Amino acid sequence: MAPLREIHVLTLFPDLFEGFLRESILGKAVEDGRVAIRLLDFRTFATDKHHSADDVPYGGGSGMVLLPGPAVAALESLPPGTRKVLLTPQGARFDHAAAVRLAGEPRLALFCGRYEGFDERIRAHVDEELSLGDFVLQGGEVAAMAIVEALVRLLPGVLHNADSPREESFAGGLLEYPQYTRPREFRGVEVPEILLSGHHEEIRRWRRREALRRTLERRPELLATAPLTGEDRELLGRWSGGAVERWSGGSGEAQPEAKRRASPPGGGRDAVSGRRTKDEERRTPSRVHVVLVHHPIKSRVGGLITTSVTNLDIHDIARASRTYGVRAYHLVTPIALQQELVRGVASHWLEGESGERVPARAEALSLVRVAESFFAVTESVRAEAGVEPLVVMTTAAAGGRPTVGYGALRQRLRSEKRPVLLVFGTGWGLADELLDRADVLLDPIEASSDYNHLSVRVAVGICLDRLFGDR
Ligand SMILES: C[S@@+](CC[C@H](N)C(=O)[O-])C[C@H]1O[C@@H](n2cnc3c(N)ncnc32)[C@H](O)[C@@H]1O
Repeated sequence: MAPLREIHVLTLFPDLFEGFLRESILGKAVEDGRVAIRLLDFRTFATDKHHSADDVPYGGGSGMVLLPGPAVAALESLPPGTRKVLLTPQGARFDHAAAVRLAGEPRLALFCGRYEGFDERIRAHVDEELSLGDFVLQGGEVAAMAIVEALVRLLPGVLHNADSPREESFAGGLLEYPQYTRPREFRGVEVPEILLSGHHEEIRRWRRREALRRTLERRPELLATAPLTGEDRELLGRWSGGAVERWSGGSGEAQPEAKRRASPPGGGRDAVSGRRTKDEERRTPSRVHVVLVHHPIKSRVGGLITTSVTNLDIHDIARASRTYGVRAYHLVTPIALQQELVRGVASHWLEGESGERVPARAEALSLVRVAESFFAVTESVRAEAGVEPLVVMTTAAAGGRPTVGYGALRQRLRSEKRPVLLVFGTGWGLADELLDRADVLLDPIEASSDYNHLSVRVAVGICLDRLFGDR
């Protein structure tokens, strides 16, 4: 994955960033060339002699509104491939997962509104909208600064201690444990004895326990997606009288109901000999990548969540992918510990005794890749193939979006030369911001009952068979 190299801030007040960009770790990152931050003043894109970038709102009302002309001209001046983020209290909440995701975009633009906001038509020219929280700032500049700071500290080499971003609150799915420094005793409060003991393993265990305790007390909902060991669960269960299962039971299971539609038949075998034809060979999905997304995912109530990776999904989808000749199977999660979990499971079966004992399992798990974001997957596939992949997404409920049947896609893939991403969601499905990026949205899988809560593992199997199986 190419890390973030350029941030463009579009603003009416570039001077506000003066000191901010020069100081501390951020200033050093800029000076060392780890990231370039460019300020674009909307006024320089104005076409009138007064350099106007705002005007009064139609329909009356107080305040000024950013004009679409200079704002869109500024957006259109950005280098190709820049991810454009509009800062607005009406956007999705910025959080650690968003920071990890955006730190994986090579180029990013942050659009700062001011006064009463911006002309509505600007919205069509950005890729996403983010909010810092449920409060209203005077302008997007402070929000942009907060986002810049959160992203830059995640970039390789910016923090001296490479572990610190991984250990901090949210990075491992939990709040951080309490920290102490000198003096040993302050106003009668002593530093916990264990931290002075020099027993690294004991200290690690204490910190883990305190992180769990703190998360349970302050942000229990985070436990739904935090990667937890058996020991963690036992502790949480004891502290919460078993109630923690309610939060920690989140898994990558899919999906709500879907509608019926018949799948047109496919071809591919020689009618006389029954052998594979050239068409069938060309259809072999060696250019197909299966992608399983754990973020951003729709929640039951329509918000955005990060689901947990499950061992079953790692194994079963890798086996299905291998069976149908898929090139690679990518698991997308922004949570570092979950990424490690996936790598750990794959390497357990790839290396050493297990790999030798069950070579078929190793063969399947060798397809597994881990990515922080969907964008990182498209980047790596594009870098490998030298061409933009075709993005095929799946949903259990299309919600009015146009969909394509399996037969039609099967036909199309025969002549498709590009790599293909076959993307599956977990939880309550792929977030709209991902669905918006689909070149093709596949029909929901149908069955003859009105019950449709397929696991994503089964959905992957069905799709692979409909698209690439013998017909
Ligand atoms: C005063 S606010 C306008 C609020 C707008 N009238 C509304 O109700 O949505 C001016 C600008 O500040 C920025 N802003 C304000 N609050 C924000 C927040 N919570 N997160 C991100 N940006 C914010 C946005 O760029 C916004 O366009």
